[in-house]
Amino acid sequence: MKMRIKTGIEGLDDMLGGGIPKGHSIAVIGAFGTGKTTFAMQYIWEGLKNGERCIYISLEEDEESIVESARNFGWDFSKYMSSDLLLVKLEPEDARSSIRRIEAELPEIIKEFKASRIAVDSVSLITMLFKKEEEKREALFKLSKSIKESGATAIFTAEVDPRNPQVSRDGIIEYVVDGVIHLSFREEENRLRLILRILKMRRTRHSREVKPYEITERGIRVLSEAAVF
Ligand SMILES: Nc1ncnc2c1ncn2[C@@H]1O[C@H](COP(=O)(O)OP(=O)(O)OP(=O)(O)O)[C@@H](O)[C@H]1O
Ligand SMILES: [Mg+2]
Repeated sequence: MKMRIKTGIEGLDDMLGGGIPKGHSIAVIGAFGTGKTTFAMQYIWEGLKNGERCIYISLEEDEESIVESARNFGWDFSKYMSSDLLLVKLEPEDARSSIRRIEAELPEIIKEFKASRIAVDSVSLITMLFKKEEEKREALFKLSKSIKESGATAIFTAEVDPRNPQVSRDGIIEYVVDGVIHLSFREEENRLRLILRILKMRRTRHSREVKPYEITERGIRVLSEAAVF
C-alpha cells in the first residue's frame, strides 16, 4: 500500500485510511468561508512540524498576511521561512506577470525546491488569469504535471460554482486531481453547520460519510459523531 501523508486535520486522516496517498494531488473545494485556506495552511504546518520541505503558493494573501493568518492558529510559519518553507505569492490583478511566473518560474521552483508537500490557494484565482477555457485547462494541467513530477503530495483549493455548489467554479480541477474533498455549509436549527465530504480518492478506500467539522483557534477539526442529520 502507498505511504500515507497525514493532512494533520483531526478526524480526516482516519476517514482517508491514514492520510493522502503519497504523491497524490487533491482538490479542496468549497464556498467562501468554508475553511479552504485554513485547510491548506494546516496541511503545510503538519509537514513543517515533521521536518518536511513545503511550498505554499498563494494568490489570495501576501507573505505577511499568510504568516499572520497561520499565527492566529498557533502555527509559526516564520520560523521555517529561510529553510523548509517557500512562500510564493502571485498577483491575481497582474495577469500578465503572474502568467509568466506560472509558466516560466513555477516549474523550476517546484523542481528545485524538492518539497514533499505543496499547497496552491486557489486554483480559481489562477484560472481567472486566463481568458480562454483551453488556456485555463492547460495552465492547471501543466501546474499539476510539474507537481506530480516532483513527487510532492499536493492540495489545490478551489471555489465552488455558486449555481452548482457540488462542483468547482471552472469544473476542471476535479479531473486533474486524484481526490476531491468538498466543504459546505448547512443550516440546521438556526445555526450554520460546516460539513465535509470525500467525493473522490483514487486508489483508496475512504469514508463516504458526511461529517461535520469546525474551525477553531487551533484550525480545522472533523467531528467524529457520524450522525449529522
Ligand atoms: N480563530 C478562529 N476561530 C474560529 N473560526 C475561525 C478562526 N479563524 C477563522 N475562522 C473561521 O474560518 C473562516 C475562514 O476560513 P478560510 O479563510 O480558511 O476560508 P476560505 O474557504 O479560504 O474562504 P475564502 O473563499 O474567502 O478564501 C472564517 O470565516 C471563520 O468563520
Ligand atoms: Mg481562502
